[in-house]
Amino acid sequence: PIAKELFGLSLLEDQIRQAYNLRKVIVVPGDSDTSPMTKRELGRAGAKALLGVMGDEDIVAVTGGTTIADVAEHLTTPSGGPMKGGWFVPARGGLGESLEMQANSIVSKMARNVGAQYRLLHVPDLLSQEAYESLVQDHMIQEIVETIRKSRIIIHGIGNAEEMAKRRRLDPDTVADIKAEGAVAESFGYYFNQQGVVVHRMLTIGLRLEDIKRTEIVLGIAGGASKAAAIQAVLRFGQEDILVIDEAAAEIIASNC
Ligand code: F6P
Repeated sequence: PIAKELFGLSLLEDQIRQAYNLRKVIVVPGDSDTSPMTKRELGRAGAKALLGVMGDEDIVAVTGGTTIADVAEHLTTPSGGPMKGGWFVPARGGLGESLEMQANSIVSKMARNVGAQYRLLHVPDLLSQEAYESLVQDHMIQEIVETIRKSRIIIHGIGNAEEMAKRRRLDPDTVADIKAEGAVAESFGYYFNQQGVVVHRMLTIGLRLEDIKRTEIVLGIAGGASKAAAIQAVLRFGQEDILVIDEAAAEIIASNC
């Protein structure tokens, strides 16, 4: 029965990989909406996928969230020794989320676990125009943003638009706007509609859409049947290279391919 189940998962992987022209798809068994074990498996598989592509001199941009925090937990120093020349940086400003799921905390943990270096970005996840204009003038911030934009790899989570708007405590008018614009997914601070078109963005500092488009490896990790539509929207955006999801999300995505 185990071989049969694994065979089923690899069929799902192939189907989604071909439908969205991805480099690699990994599907872990179960549904992370209901199973904490599946959520952990997602983190483990994400860590393995990252180590599989990360080279010793690479810069890796990292987003926040509980899923990517689980990836950090599962990263270990590679058998070849610590990746002393590697760097982890937050993809964007992330102050505002609770500490454990902030990109800054995840970045420092990832770097510690693989023996690499890191830099932090002390900028809120949502800025007023005035705050933005003064922060972009800051030399320290300019320097880290330059490093972020040189990333070869982005590792990111995916969330449901409305849930993320609420988790970020956006005001009710903005939440209503995002909904009215038809947003179903959120990732990298951008909100996407079902077709994968960006319909809303958060003003912060760090990776921009054009940076994401030219990044060599974009690695997305998310799971749960409740996130299937969001994952599919981000796949339609078309920048993903490697996708790590769970069976529950994969089944829904594959049935809509
Ligand atoms: O806020 C950072 C972020 O990566 C979002 O871009 C994404 O929507 C969300 O976290 C995913 O969070 P979680 O893994 O906790 O569902």
